[in-house]
Amino acid sequence: MASASSFPKFSLTLLLLLLVLGSTNAQLSTNFYSKSCPNLFSAVKSTVHSAIMEELRMGASLLRLFFHDCFVNGCDGSLLLDDTSSFTGEKNAAPNRNSARGFNVVDNIKSAVEKVCPGVVSCADILAIAARDSVKILGGPYWDVKLGRRDARTASQAAANNSIPPPTSNLNRLISRFNALGLSTRDLVALSGSHTIGQTRCTSFRARIYNESNIDSSFAQTSQKNCPRTSGSGDNNLAPLDIQTPTFFDNNYFKNLINRRGLLHSDQELFNGGSTDSIVRGYSNNPSSFSSDFATAMIKMGDISPLTGSRGEIRKNCRRVN
Ligand code: HEM
Repeated sequence: MASASSFPKFSLTLLLLLLVLGSTNAQLSTNFYSKSCPNLFSAVKSTVHSAIMEELRMGASLLRLFFHDCFVNGCDGSLLLDDTSSFTGEKNAAPNRNSARGFNVVDNIKSAVEKVCPGVVSCADILAIAARDSVKILGGPYWDVKLGRRDARTASQAAANNSIPPPTSNLNRLISRFNALGLSTRDLVALSGSHTIGQTRCTSFRARIYNESNIDSSFAQTSQKNCPRTSGSGDNNLAPLDIQTPTFFDNNYFKNLINRRGLLHSDQELFNGGSTDSIVRGYSNNPSSFSSDFATAMIKMGDISPLTGSRGEIRKNCRRVN
């Protein structure tokens, strides 16, 4: 038992322990590679820029990769590992199969980065920078990315299936999934604003456009034209998540929700008479509050359980462990 005289020593030890435990995320910093890879940002940006000029949708695809990496055991590049005969990664988990894309672009970014500073920058950090650059190039906000993540030597298909919320989720499920990772309800709404860019497959929104009533009827009819009712036909047909400006990062997503034109069930859940209605209204009226909350929430998402220090590795090739 701690005596009165040993108490200060005991509490000092406890304080130090807490500092060490709490420092996992504190080890990420915006200047992590400033000495070891001063040309990192220009190498990433020019590759992301070329990829988006080639295909405007690519910015959305890169942004989503960062989300799908961070939500599954933290931002550790695990999503990027290819399946092999002896290794099952996350690429074929339900939320990713036939859906997650942009892996070749990540390879190109990694090659460009390896050219300027070999063996220094993790694939997990490349995803974080590529997501930021994509948003900026498509007209969205800019933020300073925190860096210093290392790459996982493992991945988990089961964790990917369980951790990434499906588009059938209701509001409570979305809120609790985000809260479990330290993201607030406001972060949930701001981050969902990512659906102001990109595309979705018919299979992800079929049930909504045929069966739901909280949907604008002309929007439902238009959406039905390229997404047949019968499951198995046209499953991979694409539709924009924001019908107004699908390649521009703005706040139209929130305006759509207010007009009952959210394409995914999970999107419309954010404006369906519940606790998040007021946040959606706020972002739809005030684009700059969306921009700044989005940037803050992206930084928070990037803080989820990174591998730092001597944990993990700096992968040479993002598709396989060293
Ligand atoms: C709130 C829970 C979320 C759900 C249920 C969800 C679900 C989905 C679904 C089903 C798709 C279409 C996939 C397909 O049909 O192939 C999609 C696309 C997309 N999601 Fe989410 N998402 C969520 C949150 C987020 C977050 C937090 C981000 C980024 C920070 C994000 C970024 C994107 C982007 C950019 C696309 C378009 C990708 C492309 O065009 O390649 N989503 N999401």
